[in-house]
Amino acid sequence: MEITNVSEYEAIAKQKLPKMVFDYYASGAEDQWTLQENRNAFSRILFRPRILIDVSKIDMSTTVLGFKISMPIMIAPTAMQKMAHPEGEYATARAASAAGTIMTLSSWATSSVEEVASTGPGIRFFQLYVYKDRNVVAQLVRRAERAGFKAIALTVDTPRLGRREADIKNRFTLPPFLTLKNFEGLDLGKMDKADDSGLASYVAGQIDRTLSWKDVKWLQTITKLPILVKGVLTAEDTRIAVQSGAAGIIVSNHGARQLDYVPATISALEEVVKAAQGRVPVFLDGGVRRGTDVFKALALGASGIFIGRPVVFSLAAEGEAGVRKVLQMLREEFELTMALSGCRSLKEITRDHIVADWDTPR
Ligand code: FNR
Repeated sequence: MEITNVSEYEAIAKQKLPKMVFDYYASGAEDQWTLQENRNAFSRILFRPRILIDVSKIDMSTTVLGFKISMPIMIAPTAMQKMAHPEGEYATARAASAAGTIMTLSSWATSSVEEVASTGPGIRFFQLYVYKDRNVVAQLVRRAERAGFKAIALTVDTPRLGRREADIKNRFTLPPFLTLKNFEGLDLGKMDKADDSGLASYVAGQIDRTLSWKDVKWLQTITKLPILVKGVLTAEDTRIAVQSGAAGIIVSNHGARQLDYVPATISALEEVVKAAQGRVPVFLDGGVRRGTDVFKALALGASGIFIGRPVVFSLAAEGEAGVRKVLQMLREEFELTMALSGCRSLKEITRDHIVADWDTPR
């Protein structure tokens, strides 16, 4: 049967993938309250469409950190994509560049920065986890720079791994025929099996829990690449991020995989946008599954959004073609939403095009 929306890939992936892999991709932390809320919160925002505007031409293109892309829909970093499909991150990179948009490669990819660069041209960002061994970090950042990556997305919500109970039950670990390719030569590419989640143990062993704002400054001393701070949910941290030299902010709760009972990202977005005061662009990820979701995020002040799970699920189902289809479906839905709301370009999307349940009545 024909696939008509992004969410349909989840059920197909569930049929195709080993349980351990599917559960790792799909799960959120603990009660998974935030996982549901990331979706539910979008449904509490309604449209105030404008009519009788000539929408025969719609321009969805935009610029992110100076790079022109075809639409404000980008790919979030998701780890270990070769568990989904043998072509893993290569397929994702090719699909992103075919769609004229940005792919963010995870530190924990099963393909290296060099391998992904060799798939061909494309605008790519590199997601960074900071290891205890700072030489490892410095080397990796240098490699990403040399491989042509254009920005660092520094993940700041993971001093420890969130408690993902399916991974504990499944004793999740990276299958032995795969490696965290970026760390292969550094002897950090393999993940041991543990009594609970192998990934949680890996994080506890390798990731630097002391990470703090001064390290955002340190990172700027080892790279010229712009730094996006990924995992901001409050106005307070937005202000510190801007002061610390961040080039942009990604409002993210890690796909509800870290601290449960944080708000949906779409609910936290507006406070972050206000605190950023237009000094840096604000992006969002978490639960974006429809073109209407993209529009709502932009109406609340986001400069663009990123998708996570739709990529791994479509990759599992159909490889590169699946990821292309996901990007295409979101593009078409978003274009239709713009047309039906009376917006011809992204700058025409305003706060008045939506009403949220937390708004005071007009
Ligand atoms: C992630 N995410 C993530 N984030 C990150 O900074 N580094 C990483 O390696 C990963 N890995 C990862 C794996 C999987 C399977 C998922 C689902 C998520 C979080 C990701 O970048 C993003 O924040 C969320 O996925 C966005 O939410 P949705 O689109 O999945 O709802």
